[in-house]
Amino acid sequence: MSSSQLFSGDSWAARFRALPKAELHVHLEGTMEPATVVALAKNQGETLDESTVATRYATRDFNAFLEAYKWVTSYLRAPADYVLVARRMSEQMLAQNVVYAEVTLSAGVMLLRKQDVEANFCAIREAVAPYESRGLHLQWIFDAVRQFGAAAAREVARCAVKLRDAGVVAFGMGGDELARPASEFRKVYDYAAANGLRRLVHAGEIGGPDSVRHAVEILRAERIGHGIAAAADPNLMALLAERFIGLEICPTSNLRTGALAQHLGRANASLSDHPLPRFFHAGIPLSVSTDDPAMFGTSLASEFDLLEQMGLGKQQIMSIAEGAFHGAFLPASEQSAFFEAFRAKAEALSLL
Ligand code: ADE
Ligand code: ZN
Repeated sequence: MSSSQLFSGDSWAARFRALPKAELHVHLEGTMEPATVVALAKNQGETLDESTVATRYATRDFNAFLEAYKWVTSYLRAPADYVLVARRMSEQMLAQNVVYAEVTLSAGVMLLRKQDVEANFCAIREAVAPYESRGLHLQWIFDAVRQFGAAAAREVARCAVKLRDAGVVAFGMGGDELARPASEFRKVYDYAAANGLRRLVHAGEIGGPDSVRHAVEILRAERIGHGIAAAADPNLMALLAERFIGLEICPTSNLRTGALAQHLGRANASLSDHPLPRFFHAGIPLSVSTDDPAMFGTSLASEFDLLEQMGLGKQQIMSIAEGAFHGAFLPASEQSAFFEAFRAKAEALSLL
C-alpha cells in the first residue's frame, strides 16, 4: 500500500512503515538475495540454485557467517555485478520508505581480489542515481577487513579519501574483531579523519567490552557497529551515553551470527535476551539496522517490527527511528530537513 493511501484508522504498524527511515548499517554485499546470486553465477557460467544460496546463508555462528560472506562476495567480479546489486538494494530501500542510507562497501575485499575500487564505485554511483532522484539519499562507507591488517586497511583508507568528494563519507572496519587489536589501526583512522572522513568501527559484536572501549578511545569511533558487548559494562554504557556515541544495533544479525549467544555464554539466544532496551533506557543513541539483510532474511521494516516484541513502546520506537537521522553523517541543515520531513509525516499519520 502506498503511504498516500494510509489513514489514521490504519494499524499503527502500517502507519509506522510509511514513515521516512534512515538505515545506518548495511553492507551492499549482504543485500544480495538468492535470486541475485543465482543471476550473477549464471553470467559467470555457473549453475547455482536459490536453495543452495539459502543454505549457505543459514548460519548460526560467526565463523560460518564470515565464510558465507566470503563465498557470496566471490560472485562480485566486475563493475556490472556491483551495478545489479546496487540497483536491487535501492529498490528494496525505496519500497520500505528508506530515504537515507549510509551503505558500507567492503573495499578491503575488492582490493584483496585485485579489483579496481574506483571503477566499481563509479559504476555503483551511476547505478543508484535514478533512485536518488526518486528520494533515496545515499552516502558510502569504505570498510577495511580487520584480519587483513593495517597495511591493507591503509590502502582502503587511501581509496576512501580519494573518493571522498564522490560520496564516501566514512572509513570503517569489519571482519574478525578478535583477529587484531585496535592499536594497529590508530594511524590509519587518524589519516582518514585528517582527510575529512568520519570514523566507524565494528566492535563489541563478538569481542568484549574492551573492544568497544578501544574503538572509542584508540580509534575515536563516532559510532559503533553493534557494540552489544557494552551491556556487560555499566561504565562503558555511561561513557557511550555521555559522549553521544551511537550504537548501530542489528538484532537479527546478532542472532544469526551467534554473537548474542556468545556474549551470554549459551548455545542459543533469543530476542528477549537482546540488550537494546537497556541501551535505550541508558540514554545511548541507537539506530536499528539490518547489517546483511539478504543473508539474515530480514529488512529494515522487519527489524523495527521486532522492537515491540523487545518490550519497547510505540513512542520509544518512534524516537529510535527519528534518532537515526540524528546519528547520520550529514551537515546540520540536511539533518534538519530530514527531521522536519519525519515529523511532518508522523503528524500527518497521527503518529505523534
Ligand atoms: N561484514 C559484513 N557483515 C559483518 C558483520 N556483521 N561483522 C563484521 N563484518 C561484517
Ligand atoms: Zn556490519
